[in-house]
Amino acid sequence: MADITYAKGLEGVIAGESSICKVDGENGRLYYYGYRITDLATRATFEEVTYLLLYGELPTTKQLTDFSRRMRKSRELKPPILQMIKDFPRDSHPMELLQSTVNFLSGYVDHKIEHSPTCNCRQTLHQVAQIPGVIAAFYRFKNGLDYIPPRDDLSHGANFLWQLKGEVPDNEDGEIMDKCLILHAEHSFNASTFTARVVASTLSTCYCSISAAIGSLFGSLHGGANEKVMAMVEEIDSVENVRPWLENALAEKKKVMGMGHRVYKAKDPRSVIMEDFLRTLSIKYGDTRKLDVLKEVEKVFREKMEEKGKPIYPNVDFFSGSVYSLLGIPSNLFTPIFAMARASGWLAHILEQRQDNRLFRPKALYVGDLDREWPEIEDRI
Ligand SMILES: CC(C)(COP(=O)(O)OP(=O)(O)OC[C@H]1O[C@@H](n2cnc3c(N)ncnc32)[C@H](O)[C@@H]1OP(=O)(O)O)[C@@H](O)C(=O)NCCC(=O)NCCS
Repeated sequence: MADITYAKGLEGVIAGESSICKVDGENGRLYYYGYRITDLATRATFEEVTYLLLYGELPTTKQLTDFSRRMRKSRELKPPILQMIKDFPRDSHPMELLQSTVNFLSGYVDHKIEHSPTCNCRQTLHQVAQIPGVIAAFYRFKNGLDYIPPRDDLSHGANFLWQLKGEVPDNEDGEIMDKCLILHAEHSFNASTFTARVVASTLSTCYCSISAAIGSLFGSLHGGANEKVMAMVEEIDSVENVRPWLENALAEKKKVMGMGHRVYKAKDPRSVIMEDFLRTLSIKYGDTRKLDVLKEVEKVFREKMEEKGKPIYPNVDFFSGSVYSLLGIPSNLFTPIFAMARASGWLAHILEQRQDNRLFRPKALYVGDLDREWPEIEDRI
């Protein structure tokens, strides 16, 4: 016990064993079940990656066909769920809706086993399948539009764009959306995944674990960063404004959103792929302003931080918001999209946690008082 050390934010602490994901922060590499993120993002579909995360192996053609069919058949939202989305307070953030809806979904499942804390999480896959529809329905109801039912001839990413906008995206846009989800599907013991595992370790349900993870993802130091990056791009507006804006932000000790990472000390490999998507879409839609501003922010920020001996690189969310924006997605949906992707990873971790469970129960380093004298109520100030 005497050897146990305290690490604020659990930095550097190994909190469990996992075979799902390796983040090699020193070299800027990322693997899901041993497969490089560059291969997954260029060769796989989101459904294929979800299969990998849940089964630990890539599917055969037949396995992928069956799995995709199952996921696509689970997309439709039942009427009470649509009603709940309609009734949810309009000014709420969609992450608040999502967190509530995931638990609500558990009341509308067909198999009793899905309510069990020891269920096989692969049976609750409909959560992953339905999250895009929930996000799209919230957006459409809020804007006085009708719900668009899902299509089973589209990929997970393309179907989301369809349900959101009511237009089938062209192949390139649909594919970029699907691949953005692959990039966000899994990232080891980050705050939200750790949250999911902690809740799972109490033998709570998949739904409660995922709902808690969504709450954790909402914060701006985690999933909320891309929405903040987008706001920053709009505030800076042009390449000329970047330097004065950054000098001011750094003087005020503000964090520049989308830059830096707790684990990556080299370039986040996902940001490299995301930047390629942004370049492709910027050229396609004849709008390079966001890309130009971001590249200048990256250049000037890195210059300033290197002067202080702190090399800081863009993370995945530095470019993702601008990609989504060019795909016609409003910025308050960026974090929900992150949740939509990460739900696969969370399920994989809940499953793994349950296979060799031990309740998480760390200790606190107590720094408070002891044995204080009891003051009578009239003597208290
Ligand atoms: C993710 C984050 C919390 C990691 O912070 P961290 O663990 O302290 O990172 P590091 O140890 O590499 O930071 C080294 C130094 O650079 C600073 N730094 C890191 N990222 C920074 C940023 N985005 N803006 C300004 N300064 C930053 C840190 O404050 C620290 O300064 P200090 O030595 O004076 O304390 C941080 O980079 C951040 O807040 N980034 C913006 C939010 C974001 O994009 N989050 C999404 C993550 S996927």
